[in-house]
Formats: sequence, C-alpha cells, structure tokens
Amino acid sequence: MTVIEQQILGLDGLPAGIDPSIAAWVGRIARLTDPERIVWCDGSMAERQRLISTLEKAGTLTPLNPELRPGSYLARSNPDDVARVESRTFICSEHEEDAGPTNNWMDPNRMRATLSELMAGAMRGRTMYVVPFSMGPVGSPLARYGVQVTDSPYVVLSMGTMTRMGADALRRITPGTPWVPAVHSVGAPLLPGQEDVPWPCNETKYIVHYPETREIWSYGSAYGGNAILAKKAFALRIASAIGQDEGWIAAHMLLLKVTNPDGRVFHVAAAFPSACGKTNFAMLQPTIPGWTVETLGDDIAWLAPGPDGRLRAINPEAGFFGVAPGTGRGTNPVAMDTLEHDVVFTNVALTDEGDVWWEGMTDEVPDHLTDWLGKDWTPDASTPAAHPNSRFTVAAAQCPTISDDWEDPAGVVVDAVIFGGRRATNVPLVSQARSWDHGMLMGATLASERTAAAEGTVGELRRDPFAMLPFSGVHMADHWKHWLEVGHAAEVAGGAPAVFQVNWFRKGADGRFLWPGFGENIHALKWILDRIDGTAEGADSPFGYVPADGEIDHAAAGVEDADWAALFAMDKDALTAEADDAAAFLDSYGGRVPAEIRAELAEMRARIDAL
Ligand code: PEP
Ligand code: NA
Ligand code: MN
Repeated sequence: MTVIEQQILGLDGLPAGIDPSIAAWVGRIARLTDPERIVWCDGSMAERQRLISTLEKAGTLTPLNPELRPGSYLARSNPDDVARVESRTFICSEHEEDAGPTNNWMDPNRMRATLSELMAGAMRGRTMYVVPFSMGPVGSPLARYGVQVTDSPYVVLSMGTMTRMGADALRRITPGTPWVPAVHSVGAPLLPGQEDVPWPCNETKYIVHYPETREIWSYGSAYGGNAILAKKAFALRIASAIGQDEGWIAAHMLLLKVTNPDGRVFHVAAAFPSACGKTNFAMLQPTIPGWTVETLGDDIAWLAPGPDGRLRAINPEAGFFGVAPGTGRGTNPVAMDTLEHDVVFTNVALTDEGDVWWEGMTDEVPDHLTDWLGKDWTPDASTPAAHPNSRFTVAAAQCPTISDDWEDPAGVVVDAVIFGGRRATNVPLVSQARSWDHGMLMGATLASERTAAAEGTVGELRRDPFAMLPFSGVHMADHWKHWLEVGHAAEVAGGAPAVFQVNWFRKGADGRFLWPGFGENIHALKWILDRIDGTAEGADSPFGYVPADGEIDHAAAGVEDADWAALFAMDKDALTAEADDAAAFLDSYGGRVPAEIRAELAEMRARIDAL
C-alpha cells in the first residue's frame, strides 16, 4: 500500500490545481511500480536539503570539506554504472526506418511488454519522486515541460540542478499543455527489512524513447545521461522529434555571446562531438584585448524561428553536467571558478583533506588519494584516480561568465552556427560555408579522428553528423532535411545564421598541434564575426571561404608563418579521398539523404578537382 507524502499536498494527496492527466499518469505508474510512498517535488531549498540528508544517510553522498568546497558532495557510483550505455538506448518508432540508421530500434509494442514486466514492482520498498520540470525558462514560448518519476533521490537532486524543477513548472502544465512523461527506476526493489546499497542499479539496462508518443522509459541505471531524463533523452532525442513537427531544432550545441571592442554583440551556437572541448569553448577567455566571451550553455541548444523570422536559441538546461578530468586552471579557469562551491561530483578522487581531485586538475599530483572506487591511491598506481567519465553537476547561474541574457525567455538571435571536429589533417582552422546548404554538408559530414593511429587515414574517421550520433530521436537524414528547411525558412523571413567550420586540432607532419587552442580560439571567432560584419573578405577554397592574408593576426596567437600555412594546406589527393569517404558515408544513410547535401558534396568535389 503506497503512502503519499502529505506535507506539501492538498487533502486529496495531490498538489492543488494539478493537471488531471499528470495525476492519472502518476497513479498508473505507481500501481505498476508499487513504491512505498510518493513525494511530489516542489523544487525548494528545503527539499534539496532533505534529499541531501537522505543521500548522506544512504551513503550515496559524502560531504566534502566545507572549508575547501562548501556545500559540495562526492558520489561514488556502482563501478558498472559510469556512462551512457548506447547499446541499451532505443528509439522505438512505429516504423523501424524512422529510427535508422544510427539508432537501436525495437518494435514499440514488444518494448512496452518488456518494460511493463521489468517495471512491475520495481520501486518496492522505495520512494517514488514526482519531478515536474521545465526545459527552458519557465513560461518562455520556447520552453517545453515534462514530468519524471524516479526512485533515485540522486537523480532528483541532479534534475534540480539541471532543470527548472518543481512547483513553478508544475503550475505551467495546465490542461491541454503538452508534457513529456518520463519513467525512471534503478531497478532495485527492496524486500521488507532488506538493507539498501549506496548506489542501487541493475545489470539489465534500458533507455527507451517513443518518439511518436513523446514518452521516455529508463530502467537499471542512475548515471546522468541514462537517468537525468530531461537532458539527453528529452532535450535532444524526444525534442528532435517534437521540433520536427513544430518547426524548431534540438541541437547538441553550446551557446555563447561575444562582444567586440565596439560593443557589438553576437551569439554563436556550436556543435562539437564529445571530447572536442565544448565546455572549454563555451567558457573561453579571449586573449585579444577588448573582446569578451560569455556563456549561455555548454551542451544543448534549441533553435526556433522568432517573431521576426530570424533563428533564436535558448539553452533548455539550468546546469552543467561536465566531464571533470582535463578541467584545470590552465585549460578552463572559468569552470574551476564555477566549481568552487555547491557541486555534486561523481566518481572523482577524494584528497586526504576532504577535497576532490582528478587527472588534469593540477600539474602536481597529490601523494595520496582515495580513488573513485574508494581505494587508496598513490601516483605510482596503474589506474587513474578519477574515472575518465567522472562528472560535476553544478548550477549554470554559478558560472562567473554566465551571460545576462542566458535566461531571456525570447531566446537570443543566433548570428553564427559553427561545426567543429578533432581533425589532424585536411580540415582548415576556420572556414565559412558558401551557403546554408553548404553549411549543412559541413554539419552532416562532421567527423573526429581520435587516436594517433588514425591520423591522416581517411578511412578511420568517425563521422558524427551534427554531433548528434547518439542523440537523434529521428532518422538522421531527416534531421539534416529539417535543418535545411528551418534555415531556408529563416533565409526567406529575416536571414539565417552564417555557418562556419572550425578545427582546433590540426597537426603538423611531426605530430605537433599547429594551433594553440583555448583562449587563442578568439582569433577564429573574431574572423567569423568580421565576416558577418563584412569587414573580412575571405578567400575561396574547397571548404568555402577561408581567411585572406592578414585577416587573422596569427603571430599574435603565437603561430609561425609555416604553421599558419599548414593550418590551411589543401592536398588534392587527401581531399579527394576525403570526398570519397564523405560520399560513401552519405550512401550508407540511404535514400533519405537530402538532394541538397549530395549536390553540395558534388560541388565540393568539383572545387577539389580544380585545385
Ligand atoms: C551524459 O553522458 O550524460 C552526457 C552529458 O553526455 P556527453 O557529455 O557525452 O554529451
Ligand atoms: Na557519457
Ligand atoms: Mn553532450
């Protein structure tokens, strides 16, 4: 028999004025999962404190030394629950071809039967939290709503940081307002008297999306991307399906604001695959005097036509769920400042003083640590102290460079769209697409080379179109078609953003990075904005317009002339192989590839032939 938490509720056990469709759904899921009690989350600070003490008692959270890291905690996950499990992530569209070719698919009826069986009684002995949330500023025309039920207080705490969670969001879901239901269970019911573990989860995992009915079901994991369902599951996968119907785009993109010395303001949305420095770029500290970069988001952007027809964007999230290793004063001082207090860290190492540490946080490695598994660790250990996918969860408002317009309910006008990958060869430091369609070819064929072994060998590229490979809820080629259409509509109505490609990772013949990256990336950004302003002319190339002589002061970035030339070198044979690889890649996506994308590749090939 389920007891409903009374303290914030009306006499009927429900928040006052609640949309009956939510109450009915919560009742249905409660009958299926059979929790011991139900708590409706209000998003208050008092509730956050209650969650934290619950998690401390359960051993999930360890408080850090309040003098070193106030208000902050360390969570250690089950060692087998540390990352997104793409092999267990499904897009269950009615027709298999609508999920293809990049997603796992299962027949929705079969999946529903499988999940009903797994979820039956899955919350026994646990509390089911009802978590209403808004993606985007509450009340913004661009915001969309959802309700997640979960039996993990760690997930509730994370949702409280990553979304606008609680009573305000719940009040916005009035009858007729669409909302996305998301069911989550760690899949570890407790028998009467059975002792809990600090990080309950199940070996069996399912992260399931029904794009047509906009539903999410997740079972067996408490890890971020698998369990904080507002983020990747809703704001990218389900949102890509909703956006396709409603005329807006869910993008795996950071969002930033740049102000030039004249005070002119630009907004930029940029897509990079994982491990290409998206958070670093969003928090860039310019090395050119008079320029400022401010942060609006580091992972997800929703792009929608505004009243004037121009594309506007919001960051639908309210926090950062970032990878800790590699983040340090040298690489990202703004992130380090953001992480000074009120952070939940997961799977990082613990210092003897009760603070956190991870590889790359400081040059000096502590003599002794407790590693992410809770074991003694010294620098001679053969395993890292922090898990390579260890994370921080922190409110975006805490970021010292957060932009004053990051919560503008109207969104910000997007002046430039940037696609970037990690490419040792071929792709120049920066180039501008010749047209929107050419830009969409850049997005569709986005790729990264990750290992030294892959350098220069086109066959070993990992294509990650629009950086959405694991995050599209629709057929990837339909996602491209949608980008094309939204851009064409913007061009007609008021102007589409200019599109660019960047590559911070090109290497010389000796294997050395040719470009310093980090704060010096402002030089590329400056040229991008000079192009938009019409003060840089650019020069033609197979990749579109590249900086003409003198349009980037590469000496100021510490780059010698020979390296500068190498950053833009175009080798006819290598580029021909590159175009062949891109063509084979497009073919692998079948007949849904938009004709515009194929035509742009043919055009690029002709320009390569003419080299
Ligand atoms: C996640 O795993 O939850 C996540 C945010 O993924 P990624 O950092 O790869 O985008
Ligand atoms: Na991950
Ligand atoms: Mn991401």
